[in-house]
Amino acid sequence: MKNIILIGFMGTGKTEVGKILANYLKKEFLDIDYLIEEEAKMSINEIFSRFGEEYFRELESEKVKFASKLENFVIATGGGVVLREDNVKRLKSSGILVWLTASPEEIYNRLKDTSNRPLLAMPDPYLQIKSLLEFRMPYYRHAADIIIPTDSTPPQVVAERIIKKIF
Ligand code: S3P
Repeated sequence: MKNIILIGFMGTGKTEVGKILANYLKKEFLDIDYLIEEEAKMSINEIFSRFGEEYFRELESEKVKFASKLENFVIATGGGVVLREDNVKRLKSSGILVWLTASPEEIYNRLKDTSNRPLLAMPDPYLQIKSLLEFRMPYYRHAADIIIPTDSTPPQVVAERIIKKIF
């Protein structure tokens, strides 16, 4: 059985929806960011601040290689995974790519009280969300097999919509 791979911007619910989806479908769940943190024994914030984004991207690509060899998993990726075409190719070869979308306002509201996204640790996180999202839009669009909006939608409903769309 092929994997179901969740892509999308930070705060679109990839991890939360992924766990629910895996549970519904009796599949295993894997979170690439979690895998990176476990192996590095460091938080993503710490990896970024000590070694920089490029180093993080290398770790991310390694984990994508690993995850793409699995079968019958629901896989949650980090929001920047689509920036490398190699990652996209590998993930596509291992399953269906589901793009979770949300408006910048919704993303801002979901993340405004969190502090574990180094790329949003800026004086104006809302502006940062808007400009990163704009830049990344074509990458998500290029990678996605199906698109599921998540604004004002509880994660259980998002998971159900994914199932309806795939099966
Ligand atoms: C990133 C998203 C994060 C994490 C890292 C970089 C990004 O994952 O991989 O902070 O570049 O968008 P989430 O999308 O799970 O927040």
